Amino acid sequence: ENTQLSFKDRVVVVTGAGGSLGRCYALSFAERGAKVVVNDLGGTAKGSGESSSAADAVVAEIKANGGEAVANYDSVENGEAIIKTAIEAFGRVDVLVNNAGILRDSSFKKMTNEDWDLIHKVHVDGAFNLTKAAWPHMLEQQYGRIINTSSAAGLYGNFGQANYGAAKLGLLGLTNTLAIEGQKHNVFTNAIAPAAASRMTEALFPEAVIKGMKPELIAPLVVSLCAETSQENGSIFEVGAGWIGKLRWQRSAGVSFNPQEELTAEAVAERWADICDFTEYDTPANAMESSAPMMRNLGIKM
Ligand code: NAI
Repeated sequence: ENTQLSFKDRVVVVTGAGGSLGRCYALSFAERGAKVVVNDLGGTAKGSGESSSAADAVVAEIKANGGEAVANYDSVENGEAIIKTAIEAFGRVDVLVNNAGILRDSSFKKMTNEDWDLIHKVHVDGAFNLTKAAWPHMLEQQYGRIINTSSAAGLYGNFGQANYGAAKLGLLGLTNTLAIEGQKHNVFTNAIAPAAASRMTEALFPEAVIKGMKPELIAPLVVSLCAETSQENGSIFEVGAGWIGKLRWQRSAGVSFNPQEELTAEAVAERWADICDFTEYDTPANAMESSAPMMRNLGIKM
């Protein structure tokens, strides 16, 4: 047993844990001593139907390995019930991995309101519901680790994924503020943008790539971020195929116009190349740093 990153006596909730990535998280946490709530609605990749077999299979696997786990079959749309399972079965909740997800891909032209709403219900509202229910427990015990699952489709966009991309970047927005509000309580929230073989991506990548993109290569980052010893908070990591990197904002040095004078669209257009020039840049990490050049432009010292 690895004692360095032990989760003995910790309770971990993984949503969508019957699937590719979630299953790996659940197995990893259980291997390290955690009691795991294996949540999965057990529907299709498009979010229709339900079945208890996805969650049950992972619980059985954990138990066969000598670990402790219970299944929960609720939709993340009913997140409170999932946290309730953790409290009733194990008396606490220490780690929450918001992982459950579905796709409703369609070009924006053809996208229906239902495609938009369902994706937001599962990804954004789902993470909200679970976090909202787990948050008071985490504040109370002065320890909590939350992982939200973003996506390259949110960070960069992807054809046919306006709904999914918006929801996935919404999760990064949620992460940013939860990190600020949880910081002094030792409740840390981070986001990951994973890439791995699953039913979601099988049609996307060629065979050789799929083979290398093992879902097992994502779990070590998630486990490490959730450790008591980790101080990481409010960050976003891209992870896949055995590579892990951290992402941040980069901003051009920009152009200062005189705020006392009328600013015309023509003046902006004239300086366009300079506005977009990244030769000099900064990497603002919070709202204060974001507004620094504006304050400087007003001659106000912060
Ligand atoms: P997957 O389809 O294998 O797993 C998702 C699991 O979530 C499924 O078992 C499904 O039954 C469950 N689920 C769906 N809706 C649910 C609901 N309402 N309530 C409870 N469970 C529900 O897909 P994969 O690849 O393991 O995805 C995991 C997460 O990672 C998702 O949030 C996905 O959007 C995200 N992701 C995956 C990428 C990849 O390359 N595999 C890329 C970027 C993001």
